[in-house]
Amino acid sequence: AMAAERAVAMATCTAPVNIAVIKYWGKRDTDLILPINSSLSVTLHQDQLRTTTTAVASRDFTEDRLWLNGAEADVGHPRVQACLREVRRLARKRRGGSEDAATLGLLSYKVHIASENNFPTAAGLASSAAGYACLVSALARLYGVEDELSEVARRGSGSACRSMWGGFVQWQRGERPDGTDSVALQVAPETHWPELRVLVLVVSGEKKPVASTAGMQTSVETSPLLKHRAEVVVPERLAQMMRHIRERDFEGFGQLAMRDSNQFHATCLDTFPPIFYLNDLSRHIISLAHRYNAHHGHTKVAYTFDAGPNAVIFTLDDTVDEFVEVVRRSFPPATNGDQFVRGLPVGSATLSQELVTAVVTEPVPGAVQYILHTKPGPGPQLVDDPSQHLLGADGLPRCRA
Ligand code: DP6
Repeated sequence: AMAAERAVAMATCTAPVNIAVIKYWGKRDTDLILPINSSLSVTLHQDQLRTTTTAVASRDFTEDRLWLNGAEADVGHPRVQACLREVRRLARKRRGGSEDAATLGLLSYKVHIASENNFPTAAGLASSAAGYACLVSALARLYGVEDELSEVARRGSGSACRSMWGGFVQWQRGERPDGTDSVALQVAPETHWPELRVLVLVVSGEKKPVASTAGMQTSVETSPLLKHRAEVVVPERLAQMMRHIRERDFEGFGQLAMRDSNQFHATCLDTFPPIFYLNDLSRHIISLAHRYNAHHGHTKVAYTFDAGPNAVIFTLDDTVDEFVEVVRRSFPPATNGDQFVRGLPVGSATLSQELVTAVVTEPVPGAVQYILHTKPGPGPQLVDDPSQHLLGADGLPRCRA
């Protein structure tokens, strides 16, 4: 009875970004967000990249409200509404009717939600995956829901379902029309491959590309290569990639990640009218990675690109210092030289003359804005510290330091 009188409840969570090594591109159901193929990703560490979301339900609120990075946003967005509706549905199902008056009370209240990223949205790092994973995590916590959450996050953004787990994550395509088997599953935890590192090369002067939601639908409608990829190529690659991860085989993992990124961008070129996400600089980075690997005689670095020109490089911890120096020499920082490398520490490295001659062929000053050094990390986390809530007891955004 006491809990039933609770007038306000609050929950704050953080959630990670993920980067696919077998790409998701194309839906068979655009409303439920059901993909045409399974995909596989690596969850990145939240020390470097994370979304934080606070959800508050209160008897006193007169309407649902949403703030993104401090500015009020449209809570009526269909995908936000789908997530809200689905978490509430699970809460009712779980409570089995009238048993838990506290939850039923909460379910009748309006909610205020605030979400922010600890990285600039302008950096073009996929923020919708972390954003929806975080929204669903915070709402689930608020209403006491624990299961089937990747299905709900999927309704926000397809790739968001993979951010509901840490480490290495598969989003299985599923077969059922209602999407109940189109869920994310953890393949291995982040501790499985402790040497794996990630370098995000944030490129300069980025223009807003075609949004993935619109782009992938045009691809589904026009690209025969995408159809072949979904039906034939991905099923084989997914099995191979799982094996490479299980065996911590960087050669196999890196080769396949690069090939799959390239095939995704090939399907974009095969789309009509074509979509271009890679730019000259992306292609520069691709060539640089291949020259670097060729110089060493095996796969030391692997690139992957999503729906934008920023490069994500997978490598192992023993290669980070040298490769970062290669990037620094190839794309010398324009001004903010001291902030060129961010995130996990990077040591200094001296490059041999042979390496410089073979790899650093045509420097492009200022082309890379900065490098973010990170690694695989865990899934969404509950934030216990009340000082970290983004909304105050009054349900309004708190002044940020
Ligand atoms: C290229 O998940 O952003 O990053 O489901 O329409 O929200 P919607 O698309 P989204 O697409 C991500 C595409 C990708 C590849 C990937 O992450 O697998």
